[in-house]
Parts: sequence; structure tokens; C-alpha cells
Amino acid sequence: MDYELILNDIKPTLDEKNEIDEVSSNLMNFLQESCDENGIDAKVALVGSVAKDTALKGKSDIDIFIAFPLDTDKQYLKEVGLDLAHECCRKFESTPEHHFASHPYVTTHINGFEVDIVPCYAINDGTELKSAVDRTILHTRYVKANLSEDQIDEVLLLKRFMSMTGTYGSEFKVGGFAGYLCELLIIHYGTFENTLNNALNWKYGETIDLENYGTSGLFNDPLIVIDPTDMNRNVGAALRLDKMAEFIQSARNYIFSDNKNDYFYPLKRNLDKQELLNEFNSRNGDLITICFDIPDIPLDTLHPQLRKTTEALERKLNDEEFNVFKADYWSDERESAVILLELASSELNDVKVNVGPKVFINQACENFAAKYGRENCYVQGDFLVHSQKREFNNAKDLVEHILTPEHIGLIKVGKNLKKTIINTYRFINLDELDNDDYLEFLDDFINPGQYIVR
Ligand code: UTP
Ligand code: MN
Repeated sequence: MDYELILNDIKPTLDEKNEIDEVSSNLMNFLQESCDENGIDAKVALVGSVAKDTALKGKSDIDIFIAFPLDTDKQYLKEVGLDLAHECCRKFESTPEHHFASHPYVTTHINGFEVDIVPCYAINDGTELKSAVDRTILHTRYVKANLSEDQIDEVLLLKRFMSMTGTYGSEFKVGGFAGYLCELLIIHYGTFENTLNNALNWKYGETIDLENYGTSGLFNDPLIVIDPTDMNRNVGAALRLDKMAEFIQSARNYIFSDNKNDYFYPLKRNLDKQELLNEFNSRNGDLITICFDIPDIPLDTLHPQLRKTTEALERKLNDEEFNVFKADYWSDERESAVILLELASSELNDVKVNVGPKVFINQACENFAAKYGRENCYVQGDFLVHSQKREFNNAKDLVEHILTPEHIGLIKVGKNLKKTIINTYRFINLDELDNDDYLEFLDDFINPGQYIVR
């Protein structure tokens, strides 16, 4: 496979690189001067993929960290760090957006680039860590020292392959591979192709321990990549099992594919609303589409809560013997979200079996019979059971019942969503929303495998 043409498409152009260099040095100089002029003891550093030269074309977010000495008071660090970031935004005439990870930082857009300005502690070793972001400077240092010039291209190929097959990005919306994880994979396996070839045989709990720390026993994650800069950290911690699995299968598909090139480019899809609706219709399932407002919370909080809520509803419906074929959610990340449930059937009969104790447990059976009437009980296998009227024989009725203040406790809903889902939810028709992102969601729902095989 000749990767030159692909690399040509995915590597930042010289112009882009120059522009990034210029913007980032302007920002860094300004921040460092502000520190120096105001007697603030801090060092400004460029980190992330721009610093490591592993950014994909058009994807460069400029990550700038302001590192304070370890003995700095946390409150001081937060306040001064944010003040500096705000000053920087004023100077470059951009609008600051606040983010509160474990740690407050500012995101802004300057000259078309996304810029993160993050205060942190200057540490030399992972064990000194005081806030979650402190490792980042060490990561940058490690990658620059251990990733060879040639391997930069291999990282770009891997990141691009993952982006196009839907497994790149450690944000909670994706739950995929972080940039740093990709870099460590290439440092370990050498090349893009070798990484894929090895991934074919990955097992649950696959472990990579570049510095031989021997600390893998601390983790119980599907993929364990011990952070070379911190033996107590698994760089793969944010990788969800399903995303690891998708990567393994897409690697398999790629290796046996005659269209390898396609794996590095966006899906060609034809998003025709009517065609999509026809496809849904032809599956003959029953759809429940629940639309509701979302609260103003960080995306890394929103997505796990939407996922959790969707899974909880699915589980409850299945527990009540409705047969959920597929469930997923979508959100515009500003105003609303949709939970889509496709059921094999949403209508049940009127009776259900209430399973009691095993007949071998004398006292329990006596209690069961006393409660439901001896004449009503019968045996299924070795269980004592009785038939009772089903409370809900229609799935939508059950959902309506659950989404009330009295009954929402029946399922585990993301805690920031509880109120708005109860107060604002409505059932909509599948075609009621009109935007391309939503149509893509519907398309993905119907064609779940389209990213990983081309
Ligand atoms: P980014 O998410 O911006 O990653 O985090 P990146 O390496 O710059 O890659 P892209 O090209 O923008 O996607 C910046 C740095 O924060 C740390 C890493 O050191 C990373 O390089 N980080 C971020 C983590 O350690 N884990 C994460 O899940 C995210
Ligand atoms: Mn970045």
C-alpha cells in the first residue's frame, strides 16, 4: 500500500504549519510576557498534537499550558490562570468559553484555530501530579523524545484511519482513542500497518507497558497502556470496549480490503430523508422517538448521561418483556436531544408470568402461595409461578408512566437530565427534525457497520 497520496491529503500544508506557528508563538509570547511583567512565576508551554507535529490537516487545536511551580496555591493558580487566559482573549479579540474539567480552563477561537489555554502545575514526574492535566507537558516531552520523524507519518495515518472509521477521540461522545494513545501505539508497534496487524489479535485486557513498570494489575480496562510518564495511569482508560472492538474489526476489514484507500476518507453517503424513512418502514419495527430539551452542561457530562438514560430505558423496556431491537440517542448539543428506540414489538399480551421461588425451598413456596392463592400457582421447570395481569402492554404507555416525577426512579437517568426530560419530553415522528446531523444519526442507526467496512 502506497500511503504517499493519503499523507499528502492529511498532512498540514506548509502554509498551515507556518500559520499555526505564528499564531501559537504570538499567543505564547503574549502570555509569557504577561507573566513576567506581573511577577507571576509561571512558564508557558505549547503542548498537544501541534507541539508534537502529530496534528492532522485542518484539525489543529492549539493547546497552550501555563505551568506554575508545584508549591503554588491551587486557588491562586486557578484565578491567575483564568485571568491570564482572559487577558489573552481580549488582546486577540476573541470570545472566551469556560470549561470546567477537574480543572477550569478556557477555550477560544483565534484566526480560525481552536485554542485551549490551560493552567497547570509544572511536574517532572507523574507521581508529583496535583491536577489531572499536569501530565500533558510530560506527554509532549515523551512523544517528542521517542517518536521518530518517520513515525510522525505513521501516527497521522493511524489517527486518520480511526477518525474515518469512527474510533478516534477520547471525548465522551466518542469514547475512542486519544491522540496520545495513538502516539504510544506507534512508538510501541513502529508503524501504522504493524499496529493494525497486532490489533487483530488483541484480547480483553491487552497490555502495553513501554517502560516496563509492571503496574498493569492496577487496571481492569479493555486496553491497558501504562502511561510512560505515570505508572499509575492507564492511557486507555477512556477507551470504551465497543470502540476498541470497532477498531479491531475495522483493522481486520482493512487488511482484507481491496479498497484500502477508502478507509482514509469520509463515508460517501446519500442522506435522502425519504429513503431513510422508507428503510425504517421496511424494517417493520415499532419506533418510539422521545425528544426533550437538554440542560447547559459540559459535553463530557452531557453525553455519558444521555447514553446512560438511553440504556436505562432500553433495559427497563426489556425487563418488562418488550423486545428492544436497537436504542441510541442524538443531540444537537445545544437545545435538544432525541432517544430513539426501535422495538421488535411494542404490543404485548395482557398476562405475564410472575416467577416465584424454586419448589425446593419449602417456606418460600408457602409464602408465595399464601400471597397469590394456592389455586393460582403452578410450576414452570422447578419454579413456582403464577400468572398475573400485565400492567403495561404498550411500550409507549410504559415510557409515559416512567417519565413522571413519581416514577422516574424506576430507571437510572443522568442526574442533570431528570428534570428536563420529565418537563419537556414529547414523542415525535422520526421525520420531525430537519438537519443533516440528525439524518446522519438515522443513517448510522440503520447502517451501524458502515464506518468499519468500506
Ligand atoms: P488533545 O485532545 O488536544 O489531543 O489533548 P492531541 O494529542 O492534541 O490530539 P489532537 O490532534 O488534538 O486530536 C491534548 C493533550 O492532553 C492530553 C495529552 O497529553 C494530549 O496530547 N490528554 C488529552 C490526555 O492525556 N488524555 C486525554 O484523554 C486527552
Ligand atoms: Mn490537541
